[in-house]
Amino acid sequence: MKIAVIGTGYVGLVSGACFSGWGHDVVCMDKNAQKIASLERGVVPIYEPGLDELVERNFAAGRLRFTCDLADAVRGASVVFIAVGTPPRAGHGDADLSFVYMAARELASLIEDNAVIVIKSTVPVGTGDIVQKIIGSVRKAGSFSVASNPEFLREGVAIRDFLEPDRVVIGIEDDRARDVLTKLYGASLDLRRTPIVVTQRRTSELIKYAANAFLATKITFINELADLCEQVGSDVSHLALGVGLDKRIGTSFLNAGPGYGGSCFPKDTMALLRTAQDHGVALRIVEETVTANEARKRRMALKVVDALGGDVEDLTIAILGLTFKPDTDDMREAPSVPLIETLQRFGARIRAYDPAGIENARQVLSDVELHRDPYECARDADAVVVVTEWDDIRHLDLASLKAVMRQKILVDLRNAFEPGAAERTGFRVSGIGRPT
Ligand code: UGA
Repeated sequence: MKIAVIGTGYVGLVSGACFSGWGHDVVCMDKNAQKIASLERGVVPIYEPGLDELVERNFAAGRLRFTCDLADAVRGASVVFIAVGTPPRAGHGDADLSFVYMAARELASLIEDNAVIVIKSTVPVGTGDIVQKIIGSVRKAGSFSVASNPEFLREGVAIRDFLEPDRVVIGIEDDRARDVLTKLYGASLDLRRTPIVVTQRRTSELIKYAANAFLATKITFINELADLCEQVGSDVSHLALGVGLDKRIGTSFLNAGPGYGGSCFPKDTMALLRTAQDHGVALRIVEETVTANEARKRRMALKVVDALGGDVEDLTIAILGLTFKPDTDDMREAPSVPLIETLQRFGARIRAYDPAGIENARQVLSDVELHRDPYECARDADAVVVVTEWDDIRHLDLASLKAVMRQKILVDLRNAFEPGAAERTGFRVSGIGRPT
């Protein structure tokens, strides 16, 4: 199949590279000439394990091409994926769809007859209808299709999530889109393991938001139970296992921590609430999730203050892990940011280590001494605080860490270390959802 992918952000690039890996002829298009030039040199502008090799291999094989020219990208393409950004609109909470609509307007006069336009960007319910109208104002009805095919990729494991998804969701309004998309996925996925959910376009659009809101709620639920565990002398990790092994609940996304962050959960929960509001529906559970998560991120600083005896003025605190989760360089909505800003307001000096996020952290943090070596970061610190559970951080040698610190205090906001082992090394440890 000849496939065009519009937008070489995270979703577009991973999807384009994976489709080409399945043997399709893929052209990825982006207006950002610098990005395209860098991709043509084999430099992938985002951090995602395995993506460099996948891009390099398929580029070398001639199955994956990059261009700034939309006409060039869609020439001969039977499927065109729109994977442009839908950032939150400042002050509104809903998604900014201007890039999606711009792509639709430009595509209208360029696509081949019978092309299937597939919206992969995360878009509010009803966006496909508008795209259909935009293209329909230029093209004859029936000569093109507009479908929805949301992605469920997690940063850090995106390639595995693409190649071995739990399910594929396809939202269609006509048989052509159904046939093309079920063939595209059905030919390369093991359908015994990966069901394809075929539904109406509007339902498909909503599935994406509902899935993210549910996961955000699951995390928030376990985070609140972690608070209760601390008060009543229970352990949230065991609680999560005991609860999650019930197949109706599931063990994943029950790791208590400093609150969820990233470019998806915060943005998508807000956008879903806005859609519900517009339609006069109250999504109270999602509303509470958003409020509780924001408050939690800010409250984490108090945990650090408590561990240090109630005052952090002029103390040095070493933050281990800055990105919103491991295996990414993404700092968007990272819990580390409000934590650091609050500790700074309380008068603490902050040093920080991250294996991949230092460059992005520089853009959002000020007055933080950034380190590429965790032991250097911990030197003379009064406490180390684990905010992101990178493998590098989990495998730190606690004795060496302790040796360079002033006070031996470990605040483990991800329960990355076994508390008994850390205590035997000589640390005073405080974790999440464990008896204080
Ligand atoms: C999320 C979804 O998991 C993907 O399915 C979806 O495709 C993606 O959003 C998207 O909409 O594009 P992502 O934001 O990459 O993926 O990261 P997650 O692994 O879901 O983690 C999100 C946040 O939740 C992180 O801050 C993470 O630390 C936190 N989290 C996750 C927990 O605190 N506990 C958990 O048990 C799991």
